[in-house]
Amino acid sequence: MKEKIPRVPTGIKGLDEMLGGGLLKKRHVLVTGGPGSGKTTFAMQFLYNGAEKFGDKGLFISLEEKSEKLVENLSQGFNWDLEKHLREGNIVITTVDKFDWDTLTDMLQSYVTRHKVRRVVIDPLTILRLNTRDTFEFRRKLIGLLGFLENLDCTVLLTSESQSLTREASTYTLEEFVVDGVIVLYNIPVRNERRRALEIVKMRGVAHSNNIYPFKITPKGIVVYQEEII
Ligand SMILES: Nc1ncnc2c1ncn2[C@@H]1O[C@H](COP(=O)(O)OP(=O)(O)O)[C@@H](O)[C@H]1O
Ligand SMILES: [Mg+2]
Repeated sequence: MKEKIPRVPTGIKGLDEMLGGGLLKKRHVLVTGGPGSGKTTFAMQFLYNGAEKFGDKGLFISLEEKSEKLVENLSQGFNWDLEKHLREGNIVITTVDKFDWDTLTDMLQSYVTRHKVRRVVIDPLTILRLNTRDTFEFRRKLIGLLGFLENLDCTVLLTSESQSLTREASTYTLEEFVVDGVIVLYNIPVRNERRRALEIVKMRGVAHSNNIYPFKITPKGIVVYQEEII
């Protein structure tokens, strides 16, 4: 049998247990959900825990929110000392103004190599898709980028916007087929409130939980409640 691939814990309570330890090192995972479902929070928590608990350097490529605003929102909502890690350079947030693949690839190559970055986030990938001529081109470039990051020893988390609250087979997007793993965040109206839930739809090479578990966004970040099944 081949040697086991090391795990990269997300540090998200409940989720690492669902994954049997964490994400697979050097693989890439897509976190998808509607607006406000918690994608950006999830992505930053992955980097924050990486820096805080595991000594991993993180790079956050923010294609939607300006970095000042991103930090402001996260500092308001959460008891994280994000500023400390930004100051110390353990986490770097960058925005790419020209959303093109070449700029992104050049930036990643020089930065990731120079700073030995271990965790990379692209939030949201959807923006890059809108800037690509057609789906064939998008697929080709995405596969190229992910392969390139794998060679640089990075574990990658991508986010994408989904349109519907519930999912039909027909709503799977191209990026979901390309990546190694897909985690879906739901924010579903139940009577007069919305309930959050999370599901691992796909995780190549991992014997993961197939249940849909509720989660909450708390001042400590996302917490998954594995003892409750929706
Ligand atoms: N401290 C907090 N406690 C509870 N909910 C929070 C907290 N901070 C943020 N949120 C919720 O998280 C949502 C933002 O999630 P975000 O990660 O930006 O979603 P997305 O990137 O999917 O649009 C907010 O709309 C709010 O409902
Ligand atoms: Mg977001």
